[in-house]
Amino acid sequence: MFSLTSSFLVSAIFLLFPAAIPACPTIPDLASYNNTALPDPFTFADGSKVVTLADWACRRAEISTLLQLDELGVLPDDPESMVATFSGTTLNITVTDGGKSISFAPTITFPKTGTAPFPALIAMGGISIPSPAGVAIINFNNEQMANQDSSPASRGVGLFFNLYGSDASAGAMIAWAWAVRRIMDALEQTPATRINTARVGVSGCSRNGKGALVAGAFEPRLVLTIPEESGSGGTDSWRISDFILASGISTQTASEIVQENVWLGTAFDQFANTSVDALPFDHHLLGAMVAPRGLFVIDNVGYYMASVVMRFRGSDSFLRIDWLGPFSSFGAMVSARAAWTAMQASDSFGISQAANHSHCAFPASQQTQLNAFINKFLFDEAGDTGVVETAGNYTFTVPDAQWAPWSVPTLV
Ligand SMILES: *[C@@H]1O[C@H](CO)[C@@H](O)[C@H](O)[C@H]1NC(C)=O
Ligand SMILES: *[C@@H]1O[C@H](CO)[C@@H](O)[C@H](O)[C@H]1NC(C)=O
Ligand SMILES: *[C@@H]1O[C@H](CO)[C@@H](O)[C@H](O)[C@H]1NC(C)=O
Ligand SMILES: *[C@@H]1O[C@H](CO)[C@@H](O)[C@H](O)[C@H]1NC(C)=O
Ligand SMILES: *[C@@H]1O[C@H](CO)[C@@H](O)[C@H](O)[C@H]1NC(C)=O
Repeated sequence: MFSLTSSFLVSAIFLLFPAAIPACPTIPDLASYNNTALPDPFTFADGSKVVTLADWACRRAEISTLLQLDELGVLPDDPESMVATFSGTTLNITVTDGGKSISFAPTITFPKTGTAPFPALIAMGGISIPSPAGVAIINFNNEQMANQDSSPASRGVGLFFNLYGSDASAGAMIAWAWAVRRIMDALEQTPATRINTARVGVSGCSRNGKGALVAGAFEPRLVLTIPEESGSGGTDSWRISDFILASGISTQTASEIVQENVWLGTAFDQFANTSVDALPFDHHLLGAMVAPRGLFVIDNVGYYMASVVMRFRGSDSFLRIDWLGPFSSFGAMVSARAAWTAMQASDSFGISQAANHSHCAFPASQQTQLNAFINKFLFDEAGDTGVVETAGNYTFTVPDAQWAPWSVPTLV
């Protein structure tokens, strides 16, 4: 694994020769940043180029910082202490920091087949894809960790905020990612769970698909990330979603999402209220943070949800309604794929957009593609995983003159 190995090497070498390692570029003042295209993954915010794998480790850290500052809110450092106990099927995790403690208790559904230690999927708010044979499901109650019932009443409500304060800048999704990191810590400390901690993935659908992508981006121990029908705030690009809305198709955008829920930190409001072109990133870079680990993006072309449109837009006066914005997801994720291509790992990335169907009802047509990712990343078996397929008939490739006007280096 490049990301783990190289960060380990960088820290080890840094301890020995602190002066020998060039520092990562400093993030400049980006107050007047303005870019109508998706920012170049391979150019640092200060304009210098990403040419080596070590540069990418720096660029990935820069992307992480910018996403936390401008959009998600800050991911706290590892807590002072954590105690995990396992009894029956319950993994009870108690985290202590700054004199406060919280406990949460994911339950594990063990597979009927297979042998321990089991690979596992952390189910963000429940599992929506069919449970794969031989894989344990770790049921994470994300709502208890950070509430997402409504806005603004849900902001700052949940166990995460009991620990870090209800005025924490964090939106719900980065709080969930923090908790997923604690689940990984707890599994590593608790061999009695019989989970193979080197073979753990994360999945969720819709709002929990947004959360699954953020968790996969911010927890490098996860080997597979499967966001399903996640839309804006997940696999969609803020910029492309605004473009889709401007072209007369009702879709979820930044300006809608900050009114609808508390998934994002409050720092995002200023961008949603003015222009997302001022963001020095977009969600292709959130996706790219997962590289070169496994990412399988599952989408639904043409999903219509009248109640949401009526509730948040007053009336249905648009030519078409396509709430998930599948073109936005395709453009953002094919752009994200450039990170895997640059690392010569493009078969660890997949996107499959099926024809319209009920929201979060996984279609049988995607089962073989899903199996390939499960087999490769959770069972270390060969699999045909590089799928890039859309029922939307989109022809987006990188470079794209409008959205991705940059070239893809080979990082060595
Ligand atoms: C951002 O750039 C676009 C395209 O060049 C321009 O139309 C727009 O006015 C700029 N916005 C700001 C806030 O400078
Ligand atoms: C988890 O542990 C805490 C602290 O010991 C305890 O208060 C809580 O009841 C336990 N929860 C479960 C579900 O066992
Ligand atoms: C964004 O707009 C909303 C709704 O008009 C408003 O309540 C909020 O204060 C604005 N926030 C910022 C940071 O501009
Ligand atoms: C998409 O499928 C759902 C569920 O079958 C249906 O309610 C909806 O009308 C469909 N949307 C379009 C645009 O065909
Ligand atoms: C994609 O192309 C096929 C074949 O021409 C057509 O049947 C289908 O309706 C198209 N899908 C969309 C979403 O435009």
